Amino acid sequence: MRIVTLPGVYPPSEDTFFLASFLEKQDLRGKRLLDLGTGTGYLAVLSSLRGARVLATDIQVKAILNARLNARFNGVFFSTRLSDLFENVDGTFDYVVFNPPYLSSWEEINDKAWDGGWKIVKRFLGEVEDFLSPEGCYAFVMEEDENWRRIEPFLSDVKVSKNAFHLVRVIGCR
Ligand SMILES: C[S@@+](CC[C@H](N)C(=O)[O-])C[C@H]1O[C@@H](n2cnc3c(N)ncnc32)[C@H](O)[C@@H]1O
Repeated sequence: MRIVTLPGVYPPSEDTFFLASFLEKQDLRGKRLLDLGTGTGYLAVLSSLRGARVLATDIQVKAILNARLNARFNGVFFSTRLSDLFENVDGTFDYVVFNPPYLSSWEEINDKAWDGGWKIVKRFLGEVEDFLSPEGCYAFVMEEDENWRRIEPFLSDVKVSKNAFHLVRVIGCR
């Protein structure tokens, strides 16, 4: 994959790769996948290359442009949409993946690509079930910190994995 990162867009990082490693184990051929908060489009490109029909969304125009650019660089096509979480999303998906801006407001970080904290994940959890197909799954990652401890109580029947970078990956299926 050839991925470029435009200024101000979140560069593919350990959290991106942790979600990617889940997708790499799935048979995505013909599956409907929503990449929420797509950033550079890394996960959308990967999923498209593996045969998924992808909708990639982001709240930032620059991320949408970046994802489209990377789709072109990798010879794939997927739909893109500007959206605050599920606001402009319709239909249901076999997979919904979200690498959220899970850090809390720090003075030096005031950017939608990074800043969101546990509240955005809670919003996501409150809505995601409505966008899953009958056997659909969602996946998201967070850092194992205060934000994670606030989210943990809202989870049930999920598979949780942790890695050496203190990241937590949550998979929930219907
Ligand atoms: C940590 S980055 C992840 C980017 C990419 N998915 C990846 O894994 O590299 C979070 C992304 O979510 C987007 N975002 C932040 N708040 C959002 C919201 N309310 N709705 C949709 N996307 C949002 C940011 O613009 C950013 O691109």
